[in-house]
Amino acid sequence: MAPKSKILIIGGTGYIGKFVAEASAKQGHPTFIFTRESTTKHPEKSKLLDNFKSLGAKLVIGDLHNHESLVKAIKEVDVVISTVGGESVADQVKIIEAIKEAGNVKRFLPSEFGTDVDHVISVEPATSIFKGKADIRRAVEAAGIPHTFVSCNGFAGYFLPNIGQMDSYTAPREKVTILGDGTPKAVFVKEEEIALATIKSVDDPRTLNKILIFRPPGNTLSFKEIVSVWESKIGKTLEKTYVSDEQILKNIQESPFGLSIMLSISHSVFVKGSATNFEIEPSFGVEASELYPEIKFTSIDQYLSQFA
Ligand SMILES: NC(=O)c1ccc[n+]([C@@H]2O[C@H](COP(=O)([O-])OP(=O)(O)OC[C@H]3O[C@@H](n4cnc5c(N)ncnc54)[C@H](OP(=O)(O)O)[C@@H]3O)[C@@H](O)[C@H]2O)c1
Repeated sequence: MAPKSKILIIGGTGYIGKFVAEASAKQGHPTFIFTRESTTKHPEKSKLLDNFKSLGAKLVIGDLHNHESLVKAIKEVDVVISTVGGESVADQVKIIEAIKEAGNVKRFLPSEFGTDVDHVISVEPATSIFKGKADIRRAVEAAGIPHTFVSCNGFAGYFLPNIGQMDSYTAPREKVTILGDGTPKAVFVKEEEIALATIKSVDDPRTLNKILIFRPPGNTLSFKEIVSVWESKIGKTLEKTYVSDEQILKNIQESPFGLSIMLSISHSVFVKGSATNFEIEPSFGVEASELYPEIKFTSIDQYLSQFA
């Protein structure tokens, strides 16, 4: 068997990055975590870094804004995975420049981990956020860098614990608010399983220059279906309020920026059906659960049991 690629993870201490870093080390890849000096002194993040080291990963101190540090780190590996946060998406042009200069990278996975930005239907401010990621796709392609774009759709931990109720941290037991008519299918996948499929994809010729799209059948349900699964778990019918498309658009306009971002992303998923409203054509994409049947994706039904 060919040796496993050496992987550099930029943003490994972030929300999704920590799952990706752990999966990389546990899957036996020589793993390098690119982190800023200040993060090594952070009380919680330093514990994460210690955990990565205990799994055999090596820390590389640097910064996206320090070109030399990036080039030096990239020269040591075969694969670069970026899991930087939303505010740093545009700064990934610096990773692209460094990969070009280093000249040795066999695969680059830029920070995506959401809706497929080439098929999404959205309104502002979500449109600008999706465009930022699409611009990075175009820059990676223009630079001729071998790549995989990971479109995992929703993180289970972001939506399922409160069934998408933005005014609550816990799942509803009396009333539930449903965006739109609740019928377009959305996708929510457990973070550990997103990370595992992501790591499997880096040495997989089937994902080369493709979008890895997640639509495991048990993870693909409409808002109404998710509510119905939850109702069967708690043995109760909830009082339902449906928010019309028109009202959601008004709420997006009138909300503070942070909330309008969340609302507009939810609008693209739950009203416009952006996670599932297109066919995955072999010319551009591959579906993760078809590619990796050995990953037993935790279904939404199974995931919700822990909250009942
Ligand atoms: N599908 C979904 O439901 C969903 C939900 C949330 C986010 N996302 C997407 O997931 C991706 C990752 O987001 P996240 O929320 O996991 O990220 P995050 O928690 O904000 O983490 C970002 C990481 O980026 C690194 N970073 C920031 N500035 C840096 C710099 N100047 N140099 C080097 N590293 C820097 C930091 O690492 P160090 O401190 O170690 O340097 C930090 O841990 C984004 O594309 C986001 O849009 C998807």
